[in-house]
Amino acid sequence: EKGGFKHFMIKEIYETPEAVESALVGRFDEHGRPTLYELDEFNLERIKRILLVACGTSYHAGLVFKYFAEKYLDIDVLIDVASEFRYRPIRVDDETITIAISQSGETADTLESVRAVKKAGGKVIAIANVVGSTITRESDVTLFMNAGPEIGVAASKTYVNQLVVLYTLGMYMARKKGVWNEQLSSVSKELMNMPKILKYVLQNQEIERMAEYYKNYHHFMYIGRGINTATAMEGALKLKEISYINAVAYPAGELKHGPIALLDPTFPVFAIVPNDSLYEKMRSNIEESRARNARILSVATEGDEEIKRISHDVIYVPKVHEDLYPLVMAPVIQLFAYHIADKRGYDPDKPRNLAKSVTVE
Ligand code: M6R
Repeated sequence: EKGGFKHFMIKEIYETPEAVESALVGRFDEHGRPTLYELDEFNLERIKRILLVACGTSYHAGLVFKYFAEKYLDIDVLIDVASEFRYRPIRVDDETITIAISQSGETADTLESVRAVKKAGGKVIAIANVVGSTITRESDVTLFMNAGPEIGVAASKTYVNQLVVLYTLGMYMARKKGVWNEQLSSVSKELMNMPKILKYVLQNQEIERMAEYYKNYHHFMYIGRGINTATAMEGALKLKEISYINAVAYPAGELKHGPIALLDPTFPVFAIVPNDSLYEKMRSNIEESRARNARILSVATEGDEEIKRISHDVIYVPKVHEDLYPLVMAPVIQLFAYHIADKRGYDPDKPRNLAKSVTVE
């Protein structure tokens, strides 16, 4: 049932390219423009505000969407974890739509948030994987992730598929709002190519070697900026939940406001530093960290010799459109956490104290 793999988690990570293929199929026209017919009746062109609600990994996918949507759609995206969202005042109007993201479609706090929005008179788009799940039944419409079943407790391929569906939704809204442009056209072309690109990322042997080297550290500091702040957060969550190593994540600019005090040779920095518009800022954060004698493991774009020079170790990912780095970074942070857990002798499929769907509040 694990198809020759040692654990479900690693099997599911390797299923990602195929899963992405299924998330894309039927959602684009022959010019590569998104067509989400099921949303046509919601007149999303009028939307000026999006409320995003989710937990855990799904929340991190939502964060990526926030950066993407705010960049292209000229709207505000307010995002919160469901266990906070549902207890705060909920303001909805005709120009607001809520997006609830949940792999299982059964997460109690996310479900209660959906109910609260509906009660306040708002409309909800669900993004879910499990067909027939409660959140999909109670929302106004569902975009399915089509990732296939995920048995490992840690979200892996479903995180990537959430991202794919959210990028597609963002681009669909751009079309509706009449702000489709060249940039989005290249994002969409590259998204179509993602199954191939991800297959290539999954061949990277360096990640496991790095896991071997770093497996005995007790702490990690994950840093990123912009759209990859979410990558850093998801990387730290993965490491914590399956390898029980303490990992904290910060938007890199926050380091000097406190957390940099933690850094020393026993506290490595895992830096997400693609070749994007925030590259120079990340580069100085790496240098600051290095000056505190922290060991630096960077994930950078192929061909970037400068980052290699200032880091102790580098894992390379292929160059993609800057908005799409969270997709190619995802297998890297997942495999790193997986191999560390496995090498430390833990079963990544059954992390202690955790359940696949959190149906209690
Ligand atoms: O099923 P959901 O997406 O609603 O689950 C939310 C979180 O419990 C979930 O993403 C969790 O953080 C992951 N399994 C962690 O890998």
